[in-house]
Amino acid sequence: MLEARLIIEGGKRIEGEIQVHGAKNSSLPVLAAAFLCDGTSVIHNCPALSDSYAATRILGSLGCKCKREGGSVIVDSSNADGCTVSDCLMREMRSSIVFLGAILGRTGRCRLSFPGGCELGPRPIDLHLSALKKLGVKIVEDHGVLDCTAGQRPSRCDITLSLPSVGATENIMLYSSLGVGETVIYNAAREPEISDLAGFLNSCGACVQGAGSSTIVINGVSELHGCEYSVMPDRIVAATYMGAAAATGGELILSGVNPADMYSCMSVFSEMGCGVYPYTDKIFINAKKPLKAVRTVRTMPYPGFPTDCQPIVMAALCRASGTSMIVENIFENRFMAVDELMRMGADIKAEGRVAVIEGVKSLSGAQVRAADLRAGAALVIAALGAEGTTSVSNIHFIDRGYESIETALKSVGADIKRV
Ligand code: UD1
Repeated sequence: MLEARLIIEGGKRIEGEIQVHGAKNSSLPVLAAAFLCDGTSVIHNCPALSDSYAATRILGSLGCKCKREGGSVIVDSSNADGCTVSDCLMREMRSSIVFLGAILGRTGRCRLSFPGGCELGPRPIDLHLSALKKLGVKIVEDHGVLDCTAGQRPSRCDITLSLPSVGATENIMLYSSLGVGETVIYNAAREPEISDLAGFLNSCGACVQGAGSSTIVINGVSELHGCEYSVMPDRIVAATYMGAAAATGGELILSGVNPADMYSCMSVFSEMGCGVYPYTDKIFINAKKPLKAVRTVRTMPYPGFPTDCQPIVMAALCRASGTSMIVENIFENRFMAVDELMRMGADIKAEGRVAVIEGVKSLSGAQVRAADLRAGAALVIAALGAEGTTSVSNIHFIDRGYESIETALKSVGADIKRV
């Protein structure tokens, strides 16, 4: 079978409005949380992405009934009692580790394979495991399989994370929501997706307080019921389309977004010379002036600049006049777009965690390959602003995080097609 590609004819200014879909990184833990409920949950604004389909396949394998109706996913967990996630489902999506807390919370047992490394480099789960051990879980690791059994949970458990891991915070919240005992997470991740997960859990009858701050208190309850919930908008997708507007000298209205979650991104685009105007649930961006280099962009846990937006901003900076620097503090291997951007004529020097981008006058179309999800999105942005035709391969990575990126971009005037 021939591999799908995106073919992009660069140099078309984009203009119009894009409705931003629900957040991948919120829908995955919310889908996992639906397993904790005794009953049916209706999850609206759940993005139709390969990763969310993988999550519903995991739920199905655990005995849940899942169906999609338009933008909503309905999960009936009434009779679900599975506790094993197969190796092949674990491999489909590295973030399926977020099912660990939910499965253990409901069934008291969980067997799944170790997620191992991924495109972003090693992604350890030591913080997830040590927190669960503190909560009384017995964990046996054997040949890459984790066999976990719930034990006596302390009536109060203080967990201090050595770094504010998003996944570890989510797993602790999921595991602690059902059952007896108070769990306090210090140095918890503060990402908006954490608040969204807490919102879902609380709508199901959980008692999670402080989400969005660095101290989260979870008081276990004896049962969780289903609920109807709408997933937050995807702030990384919104930032991607901001990057597309910046790279093409275009102007876009991004609707259905939450600007309050996006200040660090908006300020980088403003510094590049774009006009960025947040409204209640919209962001307006225009790029009337040529882009200019920015002061050092450092990726940080929220509310700092998000690592997922780093390749997107890098792609826009390739044609910004002057020298910009990016320091990647979260993942070791997140300069995956650099070599491909250089094939398009970018001038980037990356070493270790630092990349120096010397703005060039123009980029030219080339045959490039997406090495991971956001690196793929970065190539699309660069291609939109390049001269000539770019062919992006390996686009299954892009489909993990964007609902038909080509349809959204075509609707605002980009010349892009999937072949
Ligand atoms: C989540 C997001 C991902 C985003 C990242 C950081 C999902 C599905 N993915 O990933 O898109 O880029 O947050 O905002 O929501 N770490 C450890 N030990 C652990 C856990 C993490 O050392 O047990 C390290 C990681 O290697 C990494 C850093 O902590 O360097 C951040 O990881 P974490 O916040 O856990 O990211 P994820 O939840 O994997």
